Amino acid sequence: MICSAVKRVACPLRIRSFASIASKPSEPIKCLAAVARVPKKEYWHRDALQLEEVIVAPPQAGEVRIKITHTALCHTDCFTLTGDDAEGKFPCVLGHEAAGIVESVGEGVTSVQAGDHVIPCYQAECFPEDRANNLCIRCRGYCERKTNLCGKIRAFTGGGIMRADSGTRFKAVSDGAEFFHYMGISAFSQYTVLHEESVAKIRKDAPLEKVNLLGCGLATGYGAVENTAKVEPGSSVAVFGCGTVGLSCIDAAKRAGAKRIIAVDLDEKKFALSRLFGATDCVNPSEYNKPIQEVLVELTGGGLDYTFECTGNVNVMRSALEACHIGWGQSVVIGVAGAGQEIATRPFQLVTGRVWKGTAFGGYQSRTDVPALVDQYMNGDFQIDPYITHNLNLTDINESFVFLHEGKSLRTVIWMDNDCPASLNKMP
Ligand SMILES: NC(=O)c1ccc[n+]([C@@H]2O[C@H](COP(=O)([O-])OP(=O)(O)OC[C@H]3O[C@@H](n4cnc5c(N)ncnc54)[C@H](O)[C@@H]3O)[C@@H](O)[C@H]2O)c1
Ligand SMILES: [Zn+2]
Ligand SMILES: [Zn+2]
Repeated sequence: MICSAVKRVACPLRIRSFASIASKPSEPIKCLAAVARVPKKEYWHRDALQLEEVIVAPPQAGEVRIKITHTALCHTDCFTLTGDDAEGKFPCVLGHEAAGIVESVGEGVTSVQAGDHVIPCYQAECFPEDRANNLCIRCRGYCERKTNLCGKIRAFTGGGIMRADSGTRFKAVSDGAEFFHYMGISAFSQYTVLHEESVAKIRKDAPLEKVNLLGCGLATGYGAVENTAKVEPGSSVAVFGCGTVGLSCIDAAKRAGAKRIIAVDLDEKKFALSRLFGATDCVNPSEYNKPIQEVLVELTGGGLDYTFECTGNVNVMRSALEACHIGWGQSVVIGVAGAGQEIATRPFQLVTGRVWKGTAFGGYQSRTDVPALVDQYMNGDFQIDPYITHNLNLTDINESFVFLHEGKSLRTVIWMDNDCPASLNKMP
């Protein structure tokens, strides 16, 4: 049964909020979603996504239905929309940097209940009993806690479907089309259904319109520095690409006590905030007629202790590795490159002690570590406000793609109930 109150609405896109319409647990919910029916190479032409009414099915066993309150646009959403993401399935509901409130839970769910505030986590984390009973292919036995890349539901989140029945929980009202899930989250819908393993419960006094950034961008950069590289006080760091992920690397490197932090970006608009977060030098590769790695090696008298690649460009990944110091320099790949792309360097770079690593979700164990990150934010350990350059209503979501493409925004927070306060809404 569909929430009958919705039927009274003549023009769905004008109403302030579907999401405020209550539905009994275990009933389908009709709500508004921004849908990617097909890949779009040129996603910045103000028609990136299509606003549609969708029916969100009730949560099945082991699933949680969440009312999404806020979602920020991450570069990875844009990347998947281009069709270059090997795991991008269409039609789908994108969106993964989100926060919300549990609406109902399926059978057997014990870690959250209706009313809990949560951050969806695209990198899921299985439960102690899964590890004890050998139920997770990556977290069992001696492998436990070796990686945050839990494998329990990965095949399903990667395939855009749910484990209980290998189906999806989204259907279009207009033509009955089924929409794939995205990264196990699909947060560009007012309601969504997640596996319990993907839901991090957080404290209720944390502002959902800010801490949603801990669901991807900020956690990724902080974790790359703290967990993956383990930057020490006094070290030298270069960050390639100073969007939200790169800035959060700079931010964390400064807090880790790095002495020299070099921001590298083609867009000089990124340098003011880079300095604010702790960059000591800002370098634009387009101003040099030699490879940027040579510039950086000269600038630092031998190379960096740590470099972080935050662009997704495989040539930049090479530069970041080769900018490292011989003998010990470590380069961390964070950017997501297109399907089929490969990285290259001379093996001698590695033979002589440089280390090439990668990180997903900053190495954090999501359900355990995200609530702790929220606590750190609430304690004032780091700031989120500077990353939020724009706030928009769901109905204006396509503007956020334009802003990110033009380099005008870091994070645009989408208010999923169309309740963005006028004082924050910066529509052009
Ligand atoms: N590994 C993970 O877990 C993870 C998580 C989130 C995002 N990502 C990826 O991280 C990357 C950054 O995401 P974001 O949201 O910060 O993106 P963004 O678009 O906000 O920032 C990218 C920055 O890179 C700069 N840039 C582009 N090409 C460059 C070049 N050749 N040299 C120097 N700078 C260049 C841009 O000017 C921009 O400032 C993306 O590839 C995204 O898909 C990875
Ligand atoms: Zn992301
Ligand atoms: Zn696991």
